[in-house]
Amino acid sequence: MSDKLNIAIDGPASSGKSTVAKIIAKDFNYIYTDTGAMYRSVTYLALKYQVDFTDEKALVDLIHRYPITFKQAEGGQLVFVDGQDVTMAIRLPEVTQHVSQIAALKAVRQELVKQQQSIAKAGGVVMDGRDIGTVVLPDAQVKIFLNASVEERAQRRYKENMEKGIACDFDELKEAIAKRDYYDSHRENSPLKQASDAIAIDTTGMSIDEVVLAIENIAKQKLN
Ligand code: CDP
Ligand code: CDP
Repeated sequence: MSDKLNIAIDGPASSGKSTVAKIIAKDFNYIYTDTGAMYRSVTYLALKYQVDFTDEKALVDLIHRYPITFKQAEGGQLVFVDGQDVTMAIRLPEVTQHVSQIAALKAVRQELVKQQQSIAKAGGVVMDGRDIGTVVLPDAQVKIFLNASVEERAQRRYKENMEKGIACDFDELKEAIAKRDYYDSHRENSPLKQASDAIAIDTTGMSIDEVVLAIENIAKQKLN
């Protein structure tokens, strides 16, 4: 058995999952897997090839035809679909607006969960998403559930958009985040919820470094 841990990080939109997961993966020399990017990639493909969002079979065919892969680069992780760099494209508002609809489909989830479990089978993975601790890696040695007030999460995303030069209205952004969280938490298949054995961290008012330190301390205790 691997002596490396699997670290599952779940939580609502903009709670800081991917930011802290990337840092922890780098510090521990583990693989980072952004499962949200996988649901976003399927949504991107469905929009590109105009596949009906309710046609589960056609959506699963898309996943088989256009493999989703990750590549570590100096500036962070790049996402490829069928060899094409879609790192930026999968963050566009049109994808964000539709992703929860695609992510609610059972057949799509089954297919992506299979891939996620295969990535983590040797251990040494930091994986972030909505159902990692509950469904994808129920045996993960470290399970974290990150949260923060919706006001703070919207402020974080707003600041990030401003820095990237993406124009947006703060109130609309906040409403869209709250709506997506509601939808993700109330769907039938693998809803966003804290695993019973996960450690919850309310990151409201916490810096990125403070959150990273808290999780790394938990992981180090498990390793000892
Ligand atoms: O980064 P952000 O919080 O905006 O979202 P994301 O992590 O990229 O995830 C986008 C969407 O994918 C979520 O709103 C969920 O609908 C879906 N998702 C999911 O259902 N299960 C996961 N394990 C990861 C994401
Ligand atoms: O992956 P998720 O959607 O949960 O959130 P993220 O993309 O990691 O974080 C959203 C934004 O919040 C990023 O711009 C982070 O730099 C910022 N952030 C923060 O300001 N304070 C934290 N404790 C965590 C994240």
